[in-house]
Amino acid sequence: MNTPRAAGIVGVGSCVPDRVMTNRELEALVDTSDEWIQERTGIRERRIAAESETVADLATEAGRRAIAQAGLTPADLDLVIVATVSSEHLFPTTANLVQHRLGINGGAFDLAAGCTGFAYGLATGAQFIAAGTAEHVLVIGADVLSRLVNWKDRDTCVLFGDGAGAVVVGPVEAGRGLLAFDLGSDGGGRDLLKLACLNNYPQNGQPLDDRLRFITMNGREVYRFAVNVMGESAQKALAKAGLTSDQVDLFVPHQANIRIIDAAAKRLGMPSERVFVNVERYGNTSAASIPIALAEAVEQGRVNAGDLLVFVGFGAGLTWGSCVLRW
Ligand code: ACO
Repeated sequence: MNTPRAAGIVGVGSCVPDRVMTNRELEALVDTSDEWIQERTGIRERRIAAESETVADLATEAGRRAIAQAGLTPADLDLVIVATVSSEHLFPTTANLVQHRLGINGGAFDLAAGCTGFAYGLATGAQFIAAGTAEHVLVIGADVLSRLVNWKDRDTCVLFGDGAGAVVVGPVEAGRGLLAFDLGSDGGGRDLLKLACLNNYPQNGQPLDDRLRFITMNGREVYRFAVNVMGESAQKALAKAGLTSDQVDLFVPHQANIRIIDAAAKRLGMPSERVFVNVERYGNTSAASIPIALAEAVEQGRVNAGDLLVFVGFGAGLTWGSCVLRW
């Protein structure tokens, strides 16, 4: 058997809608306050897609930027994976639309794992490079959850924002790239964070429960789960790579809530200067949050060649996933 090739991130890009929605604006929609949202979540504002703007629009632009940053052209890509739970269609997939718009000649599929989608997507894309079955894979995390939240439900509508982040995964020198990952699922937590697919949802003769139309969440339980699983999953992935958390240069966690990030970082013994946070400006952008954060970290010069990075995501399913990378 051939030795697997090292697979790493060779380009990164992001795209968020222009429209900024502040906490003050939410005060006019639900019984909440800027103070409550900032104190409980760390979020100050989020981006909201324009009426005509789709998840494929944001994903395509993020992908275009990642390909350019890699110094490549769409002709160099073999496969498109889009992690999303907010496609405008069940089929064609968002990945089909991105592939066509960018002019990529290769396969394309969507992947659904809630807010963990990017970690799943990166681990999946890297397998094609490692096996030598693709040269470059475009992995995108993109979501427009503003269309799926109930804007009358203060438990959820203050948390989410829209956006897309993308990476190009390709061969890198041995010892670099994705060193290890940990992926997990517990469908036993299916009711904690949920959105029905209405056309397929079995009604069994019952009238449609209106709550099925929107995201519902048991915030306290998801919070408890997230704090535990982020530390555990990151440790597992690090152990697979034969590394420990004190060796990590930059921790890029899913940006859901500053208190969750702080608690997970504390469990990992990670000082704040080694944790990337931008939740205050974007809220929870679901599958897009890690690649948007990574794109900003790269832009700010916080990622240098040879750095050890850890990405950790968690979300609906329940699902979770961590990736350990040598940049
Ligand atoms: N504004 C004001 N008050 C509010 C709001 C709001 N927006 N939302 C809830 N409250 C109230 C509650 O009703 C409650 O009032 P009560 O004490 O009178 O019952 C009080 O604030 C405290 O509520 P808690 O739920 O205990 O608040 P908590 O500190 O747990 O924060 C939060 C809630 C922010 C939702 C937190 O639990 C959390 O972040 N959970 C994780 C959510 C998450 O990360 N979800 C995304 C997963 S990723 C994916 O796949 C989509």
